Amino acid sequence: MNIREATIDDLLGMQNCNLHNLPENYTLRYYLYHALTWPQLSYVAEDEKGRIVGYILGKMEEEPADGIAHGHVTSISVLRSYRRLGLANKLMKQSQEAMRDVFGAKFVSLHVRQTNRAAIGLYRDTLGFEVHGVEKGYYADGEDALHMRLNF
Ligand code: ACO
Repeated sequence: MNIREATIDDLLGMQNCNLHNLPENYTLRYYLYHALTWPQLSYVAEDEKGRIVGYILGKMEEEPADGIAHGHVTSISVLRSYRRLGLANKLMKQSQEAMRDVFGAKFVSLHVRQTNRAAIGLYRDTLGFEVHGVEKGYYADGEDALHMRLNF
């Protein structure tokens, strides 16, 4: 399994992976916006045949309310048969490193469904994120989001 920076050619593969894994979906234009604006912050995991089996779509917060430069994970997922191999952990670390080193981010934030045990395990237990707040009814179906944050 190989992890590398995402390119424009990967966007359809990333979108496909997202559609298989999550109800939060994005237009191809939104993927393109990430890739063109912060090319260093999105990564893909590919199998030996070059098929995309996981991705992270990362960005910098464009107008941070507190004025502090920080990154944001828009979306991350790994195809079911490639889970628990450490891919998401690696994708997160690569993107976080670039947020800090390339863009001077002081922390990274994200939203996650409060019932998403696997993702919360990854963020809190493996990576050291903390819950920064709860956003009521954040998701389209009304579920609350945990707003999580990791200081660099
Ligand atoms: N249950 C509990 N903890 C888990 C689980 C699980 N099912 N999966 C991962 N973890 C935690 C563990 O602490 C794990 O370490 P360990 O394997 O040494 O115990 C750690 O996360 C690292 O696991 P990885 O192997 O790196 O994670 P994986 O590659 O399997 O991907 C992910 C995790 C992305 C959450 C995957 O389950 C997935 O794609 N889920 C569906 C999509 C999703 O929920 N994405 C996140 C939405 S929030 C957002 O995008 C900001």
